[in-house]
Amino acid sequence: MDIAVIGSNMVDLIAYITRMPAEGETIEAPDFKMGCGGKGANQAIAAARLGADVLMLTRVGNDIFADNTIENFRKNGIDTRYILKSPASSGVAPIFVDPESHNSIIIVKGANNLLSVEDIRAAADDIRRCKLIVLQLEIPTETVYAAVRFGADNGIPVLLNPAPAQPDLVLEKVKACEFIVPNETELSLLTGMPVDSEDDIKNAAAALRDAGVKNVIVTLGKRGALWLAQDGTEQHFPPVNVAARDTTGAGDAFIGCFATVYVKTGDVARAITAANHYAADSVTRLGTQTSYIDREAFTRIYPEFAQIGE
Ligand code: RIB
Repeated sequence: MDIAVIGSNMVDLIAYITRMPAEGETIEAPDFKMGCGGKGANQAIAAARLGADVLMLTRVGNDIFADNTIENFRKNGIDTRYILKSPASSGVAPIFVDPESHNSIIIVKGANNLLSVEDIRAAADDIRRCKLIVLQLEIPTETVYAAVRFGADNGIPVLLNPAPAQPDLVLEKVKACEFIVPNETELSLLTGMPVDSEDDIKNAAAALRDAGVKNVIVTLGKRGALWLAQDGTEQHFPPVNVAARDTTGAGDAFIGCFATVYVKTGDVARAITAANHYAADSVTRLGTQTSYIDREAFTRIYPEFAQIGE
């Protein structure tokens, strides 16, 4: 097994709007799409489509969404033994995408709130067989901390995507991660530092690295990505310019691709380069998981990444 994703799943309810309604106002939106989402699930699906063997530890509810979510994981080749049903609603995410492709997201975590430290214990033997643990912040923080400890205790590198930004996240409890991959907002919240300029961003990333995180990779949207590592590496990765239609889930595409290339090659710079391209490609299509192409399609567009799923 390559990757264990310990994280969320949601049902994405995406309205393509012309503008946000004012208070008390009802407006019509021209289009709507429903799809499988959630940061954990998105990252798992992107990785699986790119050729990684993925185990998913997550909780669905006891409603009409649950079986569809499980079936979606299954048909993408993900190990579904640890997708647990709970006496709660499934996680749902109303999403609003404007004509400039900007998105606003509300998450109702539902069953994701019940993913527990005990669930990690129950899956421990199988998680131990993975080469990388991937985490986000749509499950209880205590479960995230336990997963970071589990990785450290078992010598498994952990990648934390601290999204959505969480003011109460304690850096001390996640600094053992091999990778922390925030966007600028998340970086600022994690460090308490400003991110208003390139220098600010570098200083904040350096503070995370100096706290003990081995690799800090800041995703900068249209400005590419920045990597700082314990060995003094400091590298900027330029953006891949595309015509964006829907940026929802682009960060998850980045993580799923990065995780896959990293476990297949061990080459962090190559993994960031591939992830930059994969995330950029995803914004040219509507939806979250619906915008993630598979390894064959990706390497047809970018033959230089042909070895990534081997
Ligand atoms: O990162 C995008 C995801 O955030 C969406 O799929 C939505 O479910 C929320 O979790």
